[in-house]
Amino acid sequence: MDLTQALIPAPGVRRRLPEYIARLRTMRTRLPREAPVPSAHNLEQTQQRDAARPEAALFDAPAGAGTALFSLRNASKTFPGGVHALHGVDLDIYEGEIFGIIGRSGAGKSTLLRLLNRLERPSAGQVIFDGRDLMTLDNAALRQMRRRIGMIFQHFNLLSSRTVAGNIALPLELAGTPKEKIARRINELLELVGLTDQRDRYPSQISGGQKQRVGIARALATEPRVLLCDEATSALDPETTQSILALLADINTRLGLTIVLITHQMQVIKAIAHRVAVLDGGYLAEQGTVTDIFTVPKQAITRTLLSEVIGNEIPPGVRERASALVASGAGRIWRLAFKDDGFDRLSLTEISNRFNVEIKLLHGYIDEIQGVSFGSLVAAASGEASALEAAAASIKAHDIILEEVVL
Ligand SMILES: Nc1ncnc2c1ncn2[C@@H]1O[C@H](COP(=O)(O)OP(=O)(O)OP(=O)(O)O)[C@@H](O)[C@H]1O
Ligand SMILES: [Mg+2]
Repeated sequence: MDLTQALIPAPGVRRRLPEYIARLRTMRTRLPREAPVPSAHNLEQTQQRDAARPEAALFDAPAGAGTALFSLRNASKTFPGGVHALHGVDLDIYEGEIFGIIGRSGAGKSTLLRLLNRLERPSAGQVIFDGRDLMTLDNAALRQMRRRIGMIFQHFNLLSSRTVAGNIALPLELAGTPKEKIARRINELLELVGLTDQRDRYPSQISGGQKQRVGIARALATEPRVLLCDEATSALDPETTQSILALLADINTRLGLTIVLITHQMQVIKAIAHRVAVLDGGYLAEQGTVTDIFTVPKQAITRTLLSEVIGNEIPPGVRERASALVASGAGRIWRLAFKDDGFDRLSLTEISNRFNVEIKLLHGYIDEIQGVSFGSLVAAASGEASALEAAAASIKAHDIILEEVVL
């Protein structure tokens, strides 16, 4: 059995692996980097579109890649008892993207997710789904909205008394779907998640990864436009995590489904998210494309969270050596951060010779996110102050971020 086969048991997903990797790459470049400013015009457009379709089709029509599916505007949540879980959060989640939310335990991630499907109401601010403020929806519209929002959880939440097929059927039965249509849909969903041969088993008879596949199939039963995932892979081993991520990425690509992922596993963000938001104590610390945030995390909280995957913290031994070099008058400690082919175009030897400075590499890594290489190097640079300034300027001109590390 080759590695791909071991990691991705569903043959359908395996077959499409090269295709979705290619699509992920094009999506990264297609996604807007800046959140569009919400305008009355957007709301007006939504109203016009809604007026032109039957009430039953509310929230049905995809607005198209690049438009905001969810917008939080200055959204806050204070729980009774005075816990401030979220403070004035502003963010947009675009149709068709995989959006990650990271933060320490208690940072407000689950609360934010629960605002998106109105399981929680914001104490202040707005939560907008497909151009509509969720607080203005009546019960009928709220039910329609919830059909368009699927959710999966860390502990799967399957009914132990129902088979795999029975669990998947549940939301369709609740929605009053005709029996034949349910049977057809179950077959499609089982095929999609690679569980066709497990349809009559009970949750106690299948593995954790298979349970999450059932959870995903169940969440997709009502053809949602977005899948909210709260720590969906946290209870799984690394290999099973990879196979679930491959499935989610496949679904994102194949169905154009928007996915919002909360996770404490940075590998998950690195593997499939396009953009990421960092929550810290209920505040939005920063947000951006995964490559930007992983390459140049601006906030200390982000650096801490990402340290397991990007090694941004300078190891204590290296720090000691760097301190000794600075103390001996050897100059400065630089951190160089780069992405794409920034580093390929830079020759440190050429810079050393041209400016008559010495550059010693102390620590670093080069890695790849979704086909884009990125990395960070820590170096000790010594020479005349003016030569060091000129060398630093020349490095920066190669599209490399250079900051001086204060030890
Ligand atoms: N229903 C509630 N009533 C009161 N406080 C709550 C409620 N739900 C969450 N909180 C509090 O709000 C804050 C944010 O909680 P939340 O569950 O959103 O964090 P989280 O980032 O998902 O954490 P974790 O990673 O541990 O799941 C915490 O201080 C939590 O105790
Ligand atoms: Mg949580």
